[in-house]
Amino acid sequence: MNLSSNLNESHKGVLHRYGKYLPLTGDTPIFTLGEGDTPLVQSRRIADRLNCGALYFKLESCNPTGSFKDRGMVVVVAKAIEHGLDAVLCASTGNTSASAAAYAARCGLTAYVIIPGQNVAQGKLAQAIAYGAQILEIDGNFDQALSLAQAISEKHPIALVNSVNPYRIEGQKTAAFEIVDALGDAPDYLFIPVGNAGNITAYWRGFVEYHNLGVATQRPRMMGFQAAGAAPIVIGRPVEEPHTVASAIRIGNPASWKSALAAEDESGGAIDAVPDDEILEAYQLLAQEEGIFCEPASAITVAGLLKMSREGVDFSDKRIVCIITGNGLKDPDTAMKIPATLHKLPASLQDIEAEMGWA
Ligand code: F0G
Repeated sequence: MNLSSNLNESHKGVLHRYGKYLPLTGDTPIFTLGEGDTPLVQSRRIADRLNCGALYFKLESCNPTGSFKDRGMVVVVAKAIEHGLDAVLCASTGNTSASAAAYAARCGLTAYVIIPGQNVAQGKLAQAIAYGAQILEIDGNFDQALSLAQAISEKHPIALVNSVNPYRIEGQKTAAFEIVDALGDAPDYLFIPVGNAGNITAYWRGFVEYHNLGVATQRPRMMGFQAAGAAPIVIGRPVEEPHTVASAIRIGNPASWKSALAAEDESGGAIDAVPDDEILEAYQLLAQEEGIFCEPASAITVAGLLKMSREGVDFSDKRIVCIITGNGLKDPDTAMKIPATLHKLPASLQDIEAEMGWA
């Protein structure tokens, strides 16, 4: 199989575009499913509520499997192939499993995904099924699934592709590069959801690297947000039974806890929590005022930003980026709970016109 064959395509992907910043060797296969190069879209209406310099959304939901995981997955799968492995394994609240399954399918590897029973959004499960992953659903939560995945990968020749694998972090740091490349410098604030805490670690690494290279003149304050029912870093101890509507970040004992705290400290940022009702409010605002349909976990960035603004933080003249980590289509059940105006009508011109006020 020639994994390099799609290099001629217009979208070159993370390995090609940022290869010189990644731990690649001459033996690393270069391939892409079209990950990275995601849009940075300026806010039109939410920004008005804040009195800020400028607010942008980084649409990681536009990656090939609909989440930011693809940036790290392409690197970790390429390295697994380089190391002669033919199977990958992950624990997941859904997005990592969708991404692992897709990249494994692309490269002819087997993907094993361990998921917490009943707690994975429908769309994500549908993706793992469609890509042909071996799905191992356990009667337990994400934290237990990750411990089991780690134990298996220590015993057997299989690549663990969770963000405890450093290649994942390497790939995901490229999103920070893209933000600097697009804005001409790092923003003043970066708002990001925190679950297992790999992504906040990755962005911080990317911003630090670009700053050290002189590509950026500053580094952003890293503002991480956890859901109030799953906020171990905020309360300072693991949460046995995490709960939140934001199932992607229903995590009680994040693997990258220490590096998340380092990102917070070194950047002069903060890691805070917001309750589910504020997450859902931001989720609807993003969809209905900006046209951005994301997962509840992604909307936590805007919920956190609105909370800080209410608390009196002055964002005037500040440039802010919120990371929209996953696509709203992944979790249709949450969307279907939004009260909607559904007009049930006969298939008649007159009735429809009357309903629209043109009687
Ligand atoms: N947003 C979404 C949509 C996610 O799927 C995740 C994590 C996060 C944010 C948090 O990122 O874990 O690096 O702090 N999802 C993982 C998964 C846990 O299994 O798909 P993090």
